[in-house]
Amino acid sequence: MHASIAKYLSENADRFLEELKELLRIPTVSADPVCKPHMLRGAEFVYRQFADLGFKAEIVPTAGHPIVYAEWLNAPGAPTVMVYGHYDVQPADPLNLWTTPPFEPTIRDGYVYARGATDDKGQMFTHIKSAEAWLRTVGSLPVNLKYVIEGEEEVGSNNLEDFLKANTERLKCDVAVVSDTSQYAPNQPAITYGLRGILAVEITVTGPCKDLHSGIFGGAVANPATGIARLIASLHDDQGRVRIPGFYDQVVELTAAERQQFRDLGFDEVAFKAELGVDEVAGEAGYSTIERRWARPTCEVNGLVSGYTGDGPKTIVPSKAKVKITCRLVPDQDPHVLTEALHQYLKSQCPPSLKFEFASFHGCPAFVFDPNSPYIEAAAAAVKEAWGVDRVRLIREGGSIPVVQTFKDVLGLDTLLLGWGLNTDNLHSPNEHFTIADFHRGIEASARLWDKLAAMKS
Ligand code: BES
Ligand code: ZN
Repeated sequence: MHASIAKYLSENADRFLEELKELLRIPTVSADPVCKPHMLRGAEFVYRQFADLGFKAEIVPTAGHPIVYAEWLNAPGAPTVMVYGHYDVQPADPLNLWTTPPFEPTIRDGYVYARGATDDKGQMFTHIKSAEAWLRTVGSLPVNLKYVIEGEEEVGSNNLEDFLKANTERLKCDVAVVSDTSQYAPNQPAITYGLRGILAVEITVTGPCKDLHSGIFGGAVANPATGIARLIASLHDDQGRVRIPGFYDQVVELTAAERQQFRDLGFDEVAFKAELGVDEVAGEAGYSTIERRWARPTCEVNGLVSGYTGDGPKTIVPSKAKVKITCRLVPDQDPHVLTEALHQYLKSQCPPSLKFEFASFHGCPAFVFDPNSPYIEAAAAAVKEAWGVDRVRLIREGGSIPVVQTFKDVLGLDTLLLGWGLNTDNLHSPNEHFTIADFHRGIEASARLWDKLAAMKS
């Protein structure tokens, strides 16, 4: 890497962090309709970054939240890289568990705390600042860059596919780069070659047309809370396997080699349990914790509400119960087929005395990338240099990033998943944070990556 870039990165490190904090102050919760105006402010902030660097940039409206698209195409003959990230964040609840407010970024002990710090504002921002470093020093970039920064990742990227499909020519690239995953452990960076897919649904069960006095009416009508508890209990057998008919039919089993590779990572289960505050791990019988998280499908309750949940007692039979469920999927499970299978299965489990309603939110298939790709080699070299380590682990992850499979299907693109975060950063939880040193190392790795990718096509 040019000495001038290294100098620029260190001289501007504090300002980069200040700018990230500015972005973190904007409450871009894509799921919350109240945040709609903030979503536009978030998009404008990102747009401004690109416009100031001389990128051709625009804010693309969608049926949901806007997409920021920006391109710099002044490296004729060099590869073209797609960078994807998201400026939307998960809801910050429960607010009372945050040490400092989620949208007032705070530095403590080398971390920046805020909703979106690691997922994905902090990680996404590294790829903007790396381009800035090249342009403000060398004056050009060694590759062509196209950025798609969206505002709906955390709600399933439902409007992104249309944008990609409508712009296939314009979005032509050689490879995609996404930093929205994790390192294997602190100071042990990783490249992720597999993600799980997802399907997300909500079930509402209704009994009486209003909440009832449980003494006057209780025992004579079905209780929807009890009913939904039975539905939920029917999702798994006592081996931790999902009971939806056909759920495992398309599952690609792990090879012995991949299982061995996972074992060779030397997973620290004691530390894992301590971090999560559990005495025991639990899950599908016959699989290790890493296998359960990265390569086995699951069915999880995300939220459950019914009846009175305030302080003190209240004697009612509630009218309604509601549950939010997601299944994590692995190759080759189909989110549409399984959404319908889940629908039919739960409907069949619901007693006729209760009304059953089912709604589907979003879904995407799992993604697995060739771990022997030359792109991985180039990226690994950049990451090793920036982290000052001699090894980059190849891992899979359990989370989902819907766009990566769409990149493959619509644009024929492979995606390099370069995670600068940590699974202990509390993403989707209270007190989300990002290691400031990793923010800066991420910028450096990204700056080095452009060079490595440019060198590939000679
Ligand atoms: N950044 C995460 C995904 C992730 C995190 C992958 C850590 C691997 C390691 C992403 O923003 C996310 O949370 N996605 C959602 C997608 C869903 C709402 C469609 C997820 O996985 O729940
Ligand atoms: Zn994310």
